[in-house]
Amino acid sequence: MSKSADKHKIDFKKIDTLIKECEGKKWALIPLLQKIQEEIGYIPPEATRRIASSMGLYPVQVQGVISFYTQLYTKPQGRKVVRVCRGTACHVRGGKAILKLVKQHLGIDEGETSSDYEYTLETVACIGVCALAPNLVVGTATHGHMNPRKVAQLFTNKKDTE
Ligand code: FES
Repeated sequence: MSKSADKHKIDFKKIDTLIKECEGKKWALIPLLQKIQEEIGYIPPEATRRIASSMGLYPVQVQGVISFYTQLYTKPQGRKVVRVCRGTACHVRGGKAILKLVKQHLGIDEGETSSDYEYTLETVACIGVCALAPNLVVGTATHGHMNPRKVAQLFTNKKDTE
């Protein structure tokens, strides 16, 4: 087994412990999903049946909730999530070019995670700081007035962005 596959071996013991705490409590589905994601980093699709049977739900109901909430992930995410704004204000100030540059620097497309699990790239509709457009977020840090130089500074020494 490769190192990266080993790194993302699913810890079902941990998941089952969390599931047991919510046994039969249908109302606790969303908090349970959030807890699993906090612990494991994502919600493995293999966990869906276990969650459903413990809570008295159908697997499709659990899947429906997971796919409704975009902040719930079904695949391992990078250590840092990069969100490039595609809102109108950012778009008219060059957001599309910024996204293209970020893709080039990270070597991944939207929705993808780098092979070293360092970065996941996403786009968002608006991050609420339109006056600083174009914007992007790395982890929890917002970076405004982005330009090619700033993108290069942020991602050339990729490990130093936070
Ligand atoms: S449109 Fe990008 S922050 Fe609002």
